[in-house]
Amino acid sequence: KQDETDPLAQRFAVAQALARRAGNTARRFFLRPESLTPELKSSSQDLVSEADRTVEAWLRSAIARHFPDDGIVGEEEAATAGTSGYVWVVDPIDGTMPFLVGQPNWCVSIGLAQAGRPVAGAIYAPMLRELYAAMEGGGAFLNGRRLEMNADWTLTSTTIGFGATQKATPQEVGRFVEGLYREGGVLFRIGSGALMLAYVAANRIAGYYDPMLYCWDCWAGAVLIREAGGEVTFAGDLARPGPIWAGNASVHADLKRLSGAV
Ligand code: IPD
Ligand code: CA
Ligand code: CA
Ligand code: CA
Repeated sequence: KQDETDPLAQRFAVAQALARRAGNTARRFFLRPESLTPELKSSSQDLVSEADRTVEAWLRSAIARHFPDDGIVGEEEAATAGTSGYVWVVDPIDGTMPFLVGQPNWCVSIGLAQAGRPVAGAIYAPMLRELYAAMEGGGAFLNGRRLEMNADWTLTSTTIGFGATQKATPQEVGRFVEGLYREGGVLFRIGSGALMLAYVAANRIAGYYDPMLYCWDCWAGAVLIREAGGEVTFAGDLARPGPIWAGNASVHADLKRLSGAV
């Protein structure tokens, strides 16, 4: 049982509750797509809608009500500074593209940083009815069931998640895919980085690489991977995007090598 006076445990409990509630709000938008007008952001495949903005605004006000001294970083609004040392890292809808075309593979991702480190996370996928949650030192869970990554898996044990959007260069994509297939690997992609990281923690894919993610895409997922016994390297931070590699020790090293990082 978690210590209810521990500041991180308190936030972890709130993060899970907010991920569920935000997910249910997003789900209502998802179920009536005719009410949404997709808008372009940086490229033809980088979209946003009223659903993303409404859910983030709701999350921000709920977090500020519970923990007024905490900072908040999120995809759709400017960062809010705090004084407590805790920063909430929120993606109201991770997988906006699948969301807007009626695919069920999208989620709400809520991560927590303490002194810049990922310490807790909750990922809720409403259409899959899956809540992934992890807190530093407390394990990783899917709907209350403990997750433990397969330490024996290799690059070819099952498929490998690859997140590359138009933010990646053709060279980055080409080099990685060519190398992976040369070594017997197979690609997996569902348009939600957060969910693909959760799938690594849940042994549904053997690893994950994305040439460029923001903290809100991967903060919660990184805690899940670590707490499920895996390894994750995010080369970005709370202010800058960067590549991410995740898997067990061997897959993590192989993905770094195949992407040309080492
Ligand atoms: C995107 C997803 C996708 C990743 C992109 C992200 P969004 O987030 O995580 O899997 O490859 O780089 O931007 O825009 O759907 O929240
Ligand atoms: Ca987006
Ligand atoms: Ca995202
Ligand atoms: Ca998003």
